[in-house]
Order: sequence, then structure tokens, then C-alpha cells
Amino acid sequence: MKSACLVTFGCQMNVHDSQRMEELLRADGYSFVDDPEQADVIVLNTCSVREKAEQKLRSEAGRLKRLDALLIITGCVAQQEGERLLRSMPYIDAILGPDNLHELPAVLRTLEGGAPPQVRASFDTDAPQFLVHQADTSNTPVSAYVTTMKGCNERCSFCIVPYTRGPERYRQADDIVQEIQRLALGGVREIVLLGQTVNSYRDPSVPMAADAHPDESQFAALLRRIAHEAPSIRRLRYTSPHPRHVTPDLLRAHAEIDVLATHVHLPVQSGSDRLLKRMIRRYTREEYVTRANALRAARAGLTLTTDIIVGFPGETDEDFASTLSLVDEVGFAGLFGFKYSPRPYTPALKLRDDVAPELKQERLLALFEKSESQLRAILATRVGTRQQILIEGPSRPGAKTLAGRTLHNEIVHVPESPQATMGSIATVEVLRANKHSLEGRIESIDFAGEIAQVPSFRRVSLPVVSEGA
Ligand code: SAH
Ligand code: F3S
Repeated sequence: MKSACLVTFGCQMNVHDSQRMEELLRADGYSFVDDPEQADVIVLNTCSVREKAEQKLRSEAGRLKRLDALLIITGCVAQQEGERLLRSMPYIDAILGPDNLHELPAVLRTLEGGAPPQVRASFDTDAPQFLVHQADTSNTPVSAYVTTMKGCNERCSFCIVPYTRGPERYRQADDIVQEIQRLALGGVREIVLLGQTVNSYRDPSVPMAADAHPDESQFAALLRRIAHEAPSIRRLRYTSPHPRHVTPDLLRAHAEIDVLATHVHLPVQSGSDRLLKRMIRRYTREEYVTRANALRAARAGLTLTTDIIVGFPGETDEDFASTLSLVDEVGFAGLFGFKYSPRPYTPALKLRDDVAPELKQERLLALFEKSESQLRAILATRVGTRQQILIEGPSRPGAKTLAGRTLHNEIVHVPESPQATMGSIATVEVLRANKHSLEGRIESIDFAGEIAQVPSFRRVSLPVVSEGA
């Protein structure tokens, strides 16, 4: 049997794409190994959102070049660099952009037949294709990512994603709902809808009405359909929404749909209006705060996490102080913090990267310190409360405790118990708060899980407090 090894860099979208590539290769007779030394084919699914991520690919590829395996580069760096990668790394065998991943099995067959290096990096704007879970998945996870759209039309001035992932293209709502129904039959209990600006979703099968009311949202309609048409899905999350598309209709969905998580990851990037403008985020600090508060008013106890960039060109001490004060004002339960990294093909390249690296680092640490203390305060309020958790599996491989997540996306560790299988929903009493998680004991099992084995797909966490790659 041929063996493959897949290494994933970057965001949830890449994790999703890697899972779908794994399924395609398994269907083509490949087995999977963790050690690249043992593999006939190595796929590096890359990220180029920050320079550090791109450097990681280059050093990883350099390390692997001596191996006698086919080396395939997929994802955002593949799209960004295309054929140029072959010049700097002539030992690469194929390059596949994010819209060409479904061609992987065919490309491998071509290479095995002795073909020269292959480059596939074109957007499928005319007839968009979406990677979906294979019907027969022996690897059913408790929680599954489902794509709703790809690409991004926002063009935030710092961001390379519109260049590497192309313009927005949407999946038909019927297809999305059917995929989720199939997953639910296989035992999946949580769905995480994915999109670069997931809440700008439109159903391409619904004609654009000239008089469409701006308060209505086809994304909210999609959430309602999933809740009604896949009732065994007990948790519904989405990531990442853009603050601009938090519509009254979406707020109503949060008020009405029980299975919708009481947590939203709503990237803000900065608390300074001056910088938000330079970043072309298209909202003010006040608009962000109003929407964040409206989400919390729609659903009691809803928590928010966010993405923040420090050291964007022109960021003064005052601008950064505004960001810290926003973190205070909103009371985020966690955040991904990033040092600004100039990226090719982005409008912000015209601005001088003028915040010194040491100052970026200092600001990042100050941001984390604040965020950590806010998270500690929130977790402390959970002690003594009852929470419903979805059990995802052992806390760590081989551990005697199980880990589950609350509707707020907080991790709770509980002692093993025969009834608490993966995919079960349990009511727990929270006994203790740790730095980033909770400990508790199971009071009752509310829904039995249907998943017996531990899947190989690991769920990537939403942020607690961390520096993104
Ligand atoms: N809308 C996408 C965002 C993708 S990029 C989504 O959430 O799915 C993820 C995060 O990386 C952004 O929210 C931003 O905080 C950060 N980021 C993007 N470009 C960056 C850059 N050039 N430098 C530093 N951080 C960046
Ligand atoms: Fe990037 Fe802004 Fe789109 S952060 S992915 S351009 S919403």
C-alpha cells in the first residue's frame, strides 16, 4: 500500500482542506503515516497569512528534500508563488492552489507515470467546486467543519487571503444542509461552518432580489435551516464572521436557535478608529462595540473572542492604548494576537512597516497579559455552575479524563465514565478553574454519543489566549 503524510499549516480552512485531501487519498488506496520518512508522498498544505508561516514551509521543504518521496505543496503559498516555487525549490513535484486540491489524486498518478513537476493554481470562478466530506467516513469526528463559501471580497489592507483564495464564491444551501445531514447520520454532533467572512453568505440558488432588505441575512436563514433539518446536530458554530455583516436577522437567529453556540469569534483587529480605517475594516470601534453588545443582548451569557493585530503601520502608543481599552470594554474571553507582517500583493505594503519589532513584541505581551486575566476572571465565575458539555474524547492521548466543551467553547475535563462516550452530551458541575480550562464532574448524560473510536482528525481549538503562527 502506498503511504502519504500530510502536514498542515495555518487556519481552520486549511485543516478542513487537509482532512478532505486525506479522504481523497484514502479512497485512492493510500494509508497515512505521521512520519514523513515513512511516506511515499508528502503533502505540505501551506499558509501565507504571515511571513513566519511562509518561512516554516520553506524550512520544512528544505528538510524533506533529501527523502525519496513525492513532495507536493498545496494551499496559499502554492497559489501565491505558483511556478516560481519550482525555481527556488526545484525538488518539488507538484504545486496545487486551494481551488485545485481535488486534482491531487490525478496529479499523483501523472507523476507516478514519470511526468515532470505539475503546477495547478487557477481559481474556479466560473464553476466553483467545494471539497466535501466523503459519504463513507470511517473517521467520523464529534465535530466537523463544513464549508459554506470560499474566497474573500473584503480586501482588508493587511491581508493576502483575497489574493491567495480569490473572490467570494458560495455553496448552495441545499448542498450544505445535505452534507450536514449525512454527517449527522454518521454520529457528528457539532458543525462548525467555515468561511472567510462566513456571515456574508448568500445562497447562489436564490436570485438576488432587487428589493432585498438589508436587515435580512441568508446566513441567518442557513443557520435556521440547519437547526430544523438536521435536528441531531446539538451544536452549531461558525467562523469567522465579519462585524460588518452582523445583521438584525443574525441577532434574531442567536436569540431563537438553541443549538447555536453562546460564543462568537468576531475579529476586530484594532480598537483605534484611525487604524481601523487604514486597515480598511469598514467599521468604527463604536460600531463594533454596538454589534458585540447586540450579540450579547440576543443571547444571555454569550462570550466573544477576537483577532488583534499589533504594530500595524503607524500604530502609536495611543492607538495601542485604544486597543487595550477595547479589550477591557468588550471583555473578550480569549484572543488570537498577531504582530503585523507585511505581505506581498496587499495594499498596506504602501505603508511603511514602522513599528519596531521590539515594540510589536512588547505590545503583544501586554495584550496577552490583559486577555489572560480576563479569561481567568470568566473561568472563575463558572465554578459551582452547571454546564452542558459535548464530550470530544480523552483529555490527552491515554489520559484517564475526558475533555468536553461547553456552549461557550470552554474546555471542561471530567473523570472517565462508561456512559460518557465521545459525542455524548453531559451536564457537569464545574468544580475548579485552571488557567485555560475547567474541571468538573458529570451529573447526567443527556444524549448518548454514537462514536466508538477515537478519530484521527483532531479538532483545532478556537482561541484561548495564543499567538497565532
Ligand atoms: N476572515 C478570515 C481571516 C483570515 S486571516 C478568517 O478569520 O477566517 C486570520 C487573522 O490573521 C486575521 O483576522 C488577522 O488578525 C491576522 N492577519 C491577517 N493578515 C495579517 C498580517 N499581514 N499580519 C499579521 N496578522 C495578520
Ligand atoms: Fe482577510 Fe479581511 Fe478577508 S482579514 S480574509 S481580507 S475579511
